[in-house]
Amino acid sequence: MKNVLIISGSPRKKGNSQRLCEEFKKGAEDKGNSVELIRLAEKKIGFCKACDVCMKNNGTCVQKDDMAEVLESFKKADVLVLATPVYFYGICAQMKTFIDRTYPIWQHLGEKEVYYIISAGLGEDIVKRSLGDLDGFVEHLEKYEIKGRIYATDVMDAGKVCGTPYINIAYQMGYHI
Ligand SMILES: Cc1cc2nc3c(=O)[nH]c(=O)nc-3n(C[C@H](O)[C@H](O)[C@H](O)COP(=O)(O)O)c2cc1C
Repeated sequence: MKNVLIISGSPRKKGNSQRLCEEFKKGAEDKGNSVELIRLAEKKIGFCKACDVCMKNNGTCVQKDDMAEVLESFKKADVLVLATPVYFYGICAQMKTFIDRTYPIWQHLGEKEVYYIISAGLGEDIVKRSLGDLDGFVEHLEKYEIKGRIYATDVMDAGKVCGTPYINIAYQMGYHI
């Protein structure tokens, strides 16, 4: 049994990447894993202030917001699923803010098996140009393997992913972690 943490960046509650996160969760739970799905848009997480205080006080951020509990879940996770829509050839602001706020522990990010769930209005070439921030974060983990990637392309409207093969792909990916 693995501890799975799904970080869903989209602000859309019924969005495409969120829908795929829910399927991944269902699959992983059906196999008996313990899964937590965090919607960043529902959390109060401020921008990193780059004050560097966390570098001098044992990795505690000066901001008292929801990131402390998110970091606790992050530390415990064996499997990390990073889900984001593509916005202007990049990841969404919620996901970038999460990544920056892991700074207090960036030298001890731990070992994770990693999955990407990406949604985009256009094609796969766009997605591939948009993942630098995610890759940069994952490369800072102490040990990692990117074990799966779902690029749900050509899904502009919220929920358009429903009824496509991506739904079953997400379930199966979760089931087979
Ligand atoms: C601010 C903004 C910027 C976007 N930029 C792009 C883009 O550069 N390329 C693209 O393919 N789609 C872009 N889109 C479309 C989204 O990627 C698409 O609607 C996606 O399905 C949203 O995912 P979600 O439903 O999981 O939130 C953009 C949407 C928004 C709101």
